[in-house]
Amino acid sequence: MTTRETLAQQLTRARERTLRLVDFDDAELHRQYSPLMSPLVWDLAHIGQQEELWLLRGGNPDRPGMLSPDVDRLYDAFVHSRASRVDLPLLPPTDARAYCATVRSRALDALDSLDADDSGFNFGLVISHENQHDETMLQALNLRAGPPLFDAGSALPAGRAGVAGTSVLIPGGPFVLGVDELTEPHSLDNERPPHTVELPPFAIGRVPVTNAEWREFIDDGGYHQQRWWSEPGWAHRQEAGLTAPEFWGHDGTRTRFGHIETIPADEPVQHVTFFEAEAYAAWAGARLPTEIEWEKACAWDPVAGSRRRYPWGTSEPTEALANLGGDARRPAPVGAYPAGASAYGVEQMLGDVWEWTTSPLRPWPGFTPMVYDRYTEPFFDGDYRILRGGSWAVSADILRPSFRNWDHPIRRQIFSGVRLAWDV
Ligand code: AVJ
Ligand code: FE
Repeated sequence: MTTRETLAQQLTRARERTLRLVDFDDAELHRQYSPLMSPLVWDLAHIGQQEELWLLRGGNPDRPGMLSPDVDRLYDAFVHSRASRVDLPLLPPTDARAYCATVRSRALDALDSLDADDSGFNFGLVISHENQHDETMLQALNLRAGPPLFDAGSALPAGRAGVAGTSVLIPGGPFVLGVDELTEPHSLDNERPPHTVELPPFAIGRVPVTNAEWREFIDDGGYHQQRWWSEPGWAHRQEAGLTAPEFWGHDGTRTRFGHIETIPADEPVQHVTFFEAEAYAAWAGARLPTEIEWEKACAWDPVAGSRRRYPWGTSEPTEALANLGGDARRPAPVGAYPAGASAYGVEQMLGDVWEWTTSPLRPWPGFTPMVYDRYTEPFFDGDYRILRGGSWAVSADILRPSFRNWDHPIRRQIFSGVRLAWDV
């Protein structure tokens, strides 16, 4: 397939996914499920507005577009906080859909005239952006009260006994952190440039921490013992009254996209804050990994002395290798993807749950902002922690071992989980 064909297919795949997530009546799309999230109709038009900006307006907001400047500004995430978007005079769903469709048809025309040897960075950026908002919309829909809008999700492979709670040794030594445009033409600014980093040896969880393991932490009083918590973590635990992951009931059930179901013991725990992850790790006699440790365990091939494109090698992700794409609507049980293991034997690094790391969002040495210069740089000095590996809700079209996500340490409506690490 040519680059242009691949990009066209990924644009189409992202749009089909977006439209499925907004296939509801107008009142539904205007609802605010939580002040943490936008109404779905905002995400929809914002997806089109960003696509128009990066593909049709040369990234220049002063260049006239299809929307009036006032309407265009409604979709600037820096101007309007998520909590306030429900009160804006947003485009009605019909107009938002029509706007997105018009932008898309012109974007496909622009793609047709892309040089055959051009990697189409801006197209990759737009594909990443739309898919990231699809995950955001799934977070919103998961917060929606009331009977489910979706079925319980597609089938997943079975897990394996004996992997939960086990670890893998990562010997010390140098590896290459980050990527460049040659090997990963659509990598974002914060993933570049590649550079050699020397790490001492460490151990890392073979699989993420499970619901059953988290239950032991709860039953042992972990949420009530300050000694496991950092100072800001304990303050937040007290203020927010945290006693279990979000969406857990008191009777061994959880609510997931409106479905009330028994908490599956072997599934990676989801919907925990960074602070809870940190406390769990301390209780378990472990710690969280740094994002640099995480990337080495995921991408480095110590025999070849080089990075792998994916943990398992060069082949594209499939349903046998990782839980991605969003249709499962939940993580797969631990041990479900032995074929997806990294060179070191670490499993389920891509997909299932975003994994909290101890690392704040900082630039790699030599960082240069990309054309969308407000994607990463404005967040460098904020109160954010890095999450790695993507969740079940991430599209395989945008995920790489070098992909960096970040959020506030108190957030847990995201599909966040935990992988432990240990000094050795
Ligand atoms: C990289 C997921 C933190 O959602 O705030 C979407 C992605 N940036 N639109 C976010 C993003 C602009 C970003 N994260
Ligand atoms: Fe956005």
